[in-house]
Amino acid sequence: MKRFLKQMIPLALRVKIKWAKAAWEDIIGGPLPPRVPPRRHTFIGGGDFVAVGDGFIAQLKDFGLTPDMAVLDVGCGQGRMARPLVSYLSAKGRYAGFDIVKSGIEWCQTHYGDVSNFSFRHANIINARYNRGGDVAAKDYVFPYDDNSFDLVFLTSVFTHMFQEDVANYLSEIQRVLKPGGRSVITWFIMREAEAPDLDFAHPYDAVTWTTLKSNPEAALAFDKDFVLRLYENSGLSSPQIHEGHWARKGGRSYQDMIVADKG
Ligand SMILES: C[S@@+](CC[C@H](N)C(=O)[O-])C[C@H]1O[C@@H](n2cnc3c(N)ncnc32)[C@H](O)[C@@H]1O
Repeated sequence: MKRFLKQMIPLALRVKIKWAKAAWEDIIGGPLPPRVPPRRHTFIGGGDFVAVGDGFIAQLKDFGLTPDMAVLDVGCGQGRMARPLVSYLSAKGRYAGFDIVKSGIEWCQTHYGDVSNFSFRHANIINARYNRGGDVAAKDYVFPYDDNSFDLVFLTSVFTHMFQEDVANYLSEIQRVLKPGGRSVITWFIMREAEAPDLDFAHPYDAVTWTTLKSNPEAALAFDKDFVLRLYENSGLSSPQIHEGHWARKGGRSYQDMIVADKG
């Protein structure tokens, strides 16, 4: 039914309907908790902002996050993952986030101004879905952080909007900024036969990439598993553990697939 409606209603109209629904929910929903953006200004996807953030941070704790760590949130959006870390990280801990959407970073800079160990940066990187006017390609971007400076680097729903040469560069940057023994936790869509797929990666984009939307491939991208494993091997992030998500099949600890790998 959802897919049928998607095919029948033009994208521009769907966007307007979505905005009107979010605006209505803002009106009837009452005041929002601190550091939660209004629904009508949210660009990072659906779902409950607080529940999704809390859920992901709980998973990071399962994967070894502790309060004194220095963490990097690549593609931090509007602080969905930063918000629960404010009360979790200690004064010795540190959070850094960067994103390509300037309005999201400005919103975070305003709403986290009172948290001295949190910092947010804008990176003017080109992306057809999120930042058409950017002036740097993700494949050439050098993260603005020192070598060996983070215990944990995570990305949620970011590589799912980037092309193969971009994710290759980002993995090597992640390896560079991680401390020896540091950990990466990254969500992906790994292409596989799906039982009841929520997303249909019907269109090949290149030899290792598929998209759900030919007209705007960065809407959602899935990669070939062997390609992804090769990338990890080449980048020096060792023993990648794949946790399958439930976008394709029932079960799984999260919606997207998740890969945990460490810097040796
Ligand atoms: C679906 S949102 C997820 C945001 C955030 N990680 C979260 O889960 O709340 C995807 C995010 O990836 C960001 N993004 C896309 N390409 C990027 C790139 N090359 N570098 C950093 N962020 C990027 C977008 O601007 C957007 O904020």
